[in-house]
Amino acid sequence: MKRRKIVAGNWKMNNDLNEALGLVTEIKGIVKDEVRNDAEIILFPPYISLASIAKNIEKHPILLGAQNVHQENVGAYTGEISVSMLKSVGCSYVIIGHSERRQYFSEDNELLNLKIKRAISGGLVPIYCIGETLEERENGDFWDVLKTQLWEGLEGISAEIAPEKMVIAYEPVWAIGTGKTASTEQAQDVHSYIREELAEIFSPETAAQIRILYGGSVKPDNAKELFSAPDIDGGLIGGASLKSRDFCEIIKAVG
Ligand code: 13P
Repeated sequence: MKRRKIVAGNWKMNNDLNEALGLVTEIKGIVKDEVRNDAEIILFPPYISLASIAKNIEKHPILLGAQNVHQENVGAYTGEISVSMLKSVGCSYVIIGHSERRQYFSEDNELLNLKIKRAISGGLVPIYCIGETLEERENGDFWDVLKTQLWEGLEGISAEIAPEKMVIAYEPVWAIGTGKTASTEQAQDVHSYIREELAEIFSPETAAQIRILYGGSVKPDNAKELFSAPDIDGGLIGGASLKSRDFCEIIKAVG
């Protein structure tokens, strides 16, 4: 079965409500006029804009997701947001384990595993992010780092999981926001390794259908080549997703 490609925009902590609505309106316009492929487009704005953007894209195929979620569904957790809250404002996806959450907010694989389980049981599709630091790449440890992130993060999740209910994103930390993209060959090698591990964690059939996204300095001029690799099923885009033209050129690079 062909895996439908995803182009996802992670806006991180950028854009107030007005800026967010302006950007989404521009993206909608360009997509309607110029995008002819069947890429699945997902936007990940900050929490505060989710409800308004959901209304803005009501009759549009663009999907919505959140950048993070709490592992409990309700309770005294000041400042936190739950899966059911995200569902109630129209989210269908959630990013879990972005390297910035791991690095600046001390989120570890054990916590991320709880978040993934909560997302799945509450009906959100997690995009589980993994990736090595520059030091780990250079000293050769990165295969083990990636393996541990996968096995611990996905521990106890049913082997029967529907493949459309799980997305993995490989985001090498050294490529995020640095302008230094992994080469297509480097990314493909890791993606094929991830798919082999997913075959062991779930099953070969499920692994063959799970989408694995690449993230880290994806731009209009490198997207086409990256997306042409056999195990790269789209991109998780940071900086370039904040400019409607660049983001839409990346969508068009799907083919
Ligand atoms: P950049 O595209 O800005 O490198 O960010 C990638 C990323 O972190 C997406 O989640």
